[in-house]
Amino acid sequence: MFNKSQIQLKTPEQFAIMRKAGRVVALCLAEINSAIKPGMTTLELDLIARKVMEKEGAQPSFLGYHGYPAVICVSINEEVVHGIPDEKRFINDGDLVSVDCGAIIDGWHGDAAITIGVGNVKAEHQKLSDITKEALQIGINAALPGKHIGDIGFAIEKFVRSHQGLQIGILEDYVGHGIGTEMHMAPSVPNYGKAGSGPELQVGMAIAIEPMLVLGNNKVHVLEDEWTVVSSEGSFASHWENTIAITANGPEILTKL
Ligand code: MF3
Ligand code: CO
Repeated sequence: MFNKSQIQLKTPEQFAIMRKAGRVVALCLAEINSAIKPGMTTLELDLIARKVMEKEGAQPSFLGYHGYPAVICVSINEEVVHGIPDEKRFINDGDLVSVDCGAIIDGWHGDAAITIGVGNVKAEHQKLSDITKEALQIGINAALPGKHIGDIGFAIEKFVRSHQGLQIGILEDYVGHGIGTEMHMAPSVPNYGKAGSGPELQVGMAIAIEPMLVLGNNKVHVLEDEWTVVSSEGSFASHWENTIAITANGPEILTKL
């Protein structure tokens, strides 16, 4: 666990810059959401984000991160996160497509992800995305100053487990994170946990909350490209993420239009 003193606290002015970076991320995701259709390649989606960032004067944070070769991650169906855009990878009708995007403005980061159901998506797969999106909102609602990091994961886990009939796995090896002058900072923000555990949430913290859920069990592995995380059972996955500021008035979503 991280020590409280390792957590970067932001001033209202710094939050204002993070809001700008977050807006650009939201713009990228909104443009991709309206453009996506069967027959497109995942590299074309990457190009959309690239152009938006260029136009808005933002830098892509994923490009070059530990050698990552693209601006966004596009993870389709059984791919959970970190799918690499490719000119040979086509979007098909019925695909569940998670798009993750990160941008930097004046050194401050924003990071968010959405899952898009393309065309005729199976009801069960759409439900998984809806549950993941709601789990994110429930996690955000728990991010109140004075509460703890563990309260976020506890709320998410409790909500996900409440779906009787649908067996849903919560990834354990991949978690949310603090964010600010770097994309990944202290503290870790798991999507499971014990109420009241972990560092206390304080005004000035910024965190990325990002539930990653799969149908069936939560076993995943990384493909030979050394990035793409897939569910080991081959079952469908969803990923939703927002960057959140902890303010005296409660949580504020920074990755919005
Ligand atoms: N944005 C991802 C996260 O939510 C990380 C992407 S890894 C990268 O933490 F290499 F693609 F940048
Ligand atoms: Co993130």
